[in-house]
Amino acid sequence: MHKKNQTLGEFIIGNQTSFKYSSGELSSLFNSIRLAAKVVNHEVNKAGLVDIIGSAGEVNIQGESQQKLDVYANEKFIQTLINRNIVCGIASEEEDDFISINSIDENHQNKYVVLIDPLDGSSNIDVNVSVGTIFSIYRRVTPVGTPVTLEDFLQKGNQQVAAGYVVYGTSTMLVYTTGDGVNGFTLNPAIGSFYLSHPNMEFPENGTIYSVNEGNYIHFPQGIKNYIKYCQREEEDRPYTSRYIGSLVSDFHRNMIKGGIYLYPKSSLNSNGKLRLLYECNPMAFIAEQANGKASDGFIRILDIQPTELHQRVPFICGSKNMVAKVEEFMKEAQ
Ligand code: AHG
Ligand code: MN
Ligand code: MN
Repeated sequence: MHKKNQTLGEFIIGNQTSFKYSSGELSSLFNSIRLAAKVVNHEVNKAGLVDIIGSAGEVNIQGESQQKLDVYANEKFIQTLINRNIVCGIASEEEDDFISINSIDENHQNKYVVLIDPLDGSSNIDVNVSVGTIFSIYRRVTPVGTPVTLEDFLQKGNQQVAAGYVVYGTSTMLVYTTGDGVNGFTLNPAIGSFYLSHPNMEFPENGTIYSVNEGNYIHFPQGIKNYIKYCQREEEDRPYTSRYIGSLVSDFHRNMIKGGIYLYPKSSLNSNGKLRLLYECNPMAFIAEQANGKASDGFIRILDIQPTELHQRVPFICGSKNMVAKVEEFMKEAQ
């Protein structure tokens, strides 16, 4: 079924029956995400032109000042999902509270909730470096016919039915899983279609790249400090290579292809790290595991953590299996 050069649309239709809920609904949901991704891609690609176009008076034509790209991406994804009447609720990094879609889904018949980080790595926009979008999909746990509640969003990551990311890089890619491996699609901007370019993506079991904001070294727990020193030691395949883009999606994407590990540990400055469990860590952890990788908070599996808050943060260590296992060893040892 994994024919190279298949379009994403063909792939979704072809794989619909193998999906455990075998539902056309999930396919429509993906279609909305695919559409929003293309719209955001278009905007990201002309980000550098904003001032130039703006000076010609085009930006303020409706009396609106140019929005920040993460607000724009947030609105596009939410609008698309609402317009297509396909989900019952949305949670986003950019919204304090979850959104219950009752304007259009009046009888609360939709079954899925979506959680998104509409623009990940947003500090990279001004400097023309890759950014991304992350999404996570669950079936609601409260009964159909009633409004969604917080409970529908606070599910463990191991309950995800699908997750994915878009990386707006040198080319734009959409990478996702429905629990049956990971596939990557590259956008042909001239045609406006995503094509299957990376079937069955997998992390190499071992890697030689480590990605961490080492400027925070002094604040890291002892186990992480020891691991970083281990990466830098001259032995066998070490010292490892250090690569940190500062955009989780891009760092993860590179590490999955080349073999590596991403770390955002807790520190003496923030006791739970920085990354958000629900719309950053869980979807990336699901993809990692589906790609033969591993994701941990240093001690336990990310996907087994019971969330208690929408915007909860968690230490995140994710990548090639043996590398993540090594960090867990160091954490245990230093305890
Ligand atoms: P966001 O742009 O959605 O707020 O996420 C940024 C995240 C993540 O993508 C990245 O890896 C990390 O923040 C970088 O943080 P530091 O600048 O603290 O290293
Ligand atoms: Mn983010
Ligand atoms: Mn973001």
